[in-house]
Amino acid sequence: METRPLDKRTAEFLRSFAVIVITGGSSGIGRALLGRMEEYAPDAWVGNVSRSIPEGWTEGPRRRHLAADLSEAAEVERVAAALRELMPREGRILLVNNSGFGAYGPFPAPNLPHTLRMVDLNARAPVHLTGALWPELLARGGMVANVASLAGYQPVPLMATYAATKAFLLNWSVALDEEGRGRGVRSVAVCPGPVSTNFFRGAGFSAPTGLPGQSAEDCADDALRAMRDGAAERATGWSNRLLGAVSARLPKAWAAAIGRRAIERKLGRTAR
Ligand SMILES: NC(=O)c1ccc[n+]([C@@H]2O[C@H](COP(=O)([O-])OP(=O)(O)OC[C@H]3O[C@@H](n4cnc5c(N)ncnc54)[C@H](OP(=O)(O)O)[C@@H]3O)[C@@H](O)[C@H]2O)c1
Repeated sequence: METRPLDKRTAEFLRSFAVIVITGGSSGIGRALLGRMEEYAPDAWVGNVSRSIPEGWTEGPRRRHLAADLSEAAEVERVAAALRELMPREGRILLVNNSGFGAYGPFPAPNLPHTLRMVDLNARAPVHLTGALWPELLARGGMVANVASLAGYQPVPLMATYAATKAFLLNWSVALDEEGRGRGVRSVAVCPGPVSTNFFRGAGFSAPTGLPGQSAEDCADDALRAMRDGAAERATGWSNRLLGAVSARLPKAWAAAIGRRAIERKLGRTAR
């Protein structure tokens, strides 16, 4: 698929970083973000952290893949130490916490250990990795971008834990932005709606869900524009922005009841 060139301001924004670290660059939204970083920040040192190496990724002195399972605290520690060792000592840092997965079904489907791993990956790992790099971020300036979700704006029955991890990430990120902005570190929470990636298969759907959504490339470009603008939080795509604004304002029990009907109707038939 031919991708549109990135606009000048967003390209300049990307070039303002000496170091870019992204988690989950091996597929989906993360792979699309990584593609933009490779193309538009050729002089930056770019590190990807995920279990598998991104397809088509060529390692070099400025392009490193650090294999790690971020649902394990010890792996986060190990990878943070490796990043501190490998990355250049000067210049602004962009950290993108993007790794995550979902699970569909009545709590704790598919099972409790899987659900707890999801909490560890989606919520604990971003806090852990950001905390481990926080002294460098404060000393050198930069940005933490957290890939949350539209699901973070409301309680979502049948994806209860996933949505709650994203609500955590969203609120944590916005609060961190308020703390860090006067000290040279911005935080941006990016909230995609449905995006056609491996996410739905991983969440327990056997077939395409039929949900209208963005491509990973469009979502990644919207995410980069949110970072460029220093938006404390932004849903990707105008229809998601509208939906997020409405669902965040509903009483939570109403949002849960409406959400349950919508999710059963739209997703139930493709669940495994
Ligand atoms: N797709 C959507 O509709 C949607 C909507 C809203 C928000 N999001 C969020 O967007 C982010 C990216 O998802 P995606 O849609 O691009 O899905 P994806 O294609 O499944 O990508 C998920 C990424 O997370 C990484 N990951 C998974 N488990 C990991 C682990 N234990 N340790 C380290 N990395 C791990 C994967 O890499 P490895 O498998 O190589 O480890 C992969 O690169 C997620 O946080 C997701 O919650 C997605």
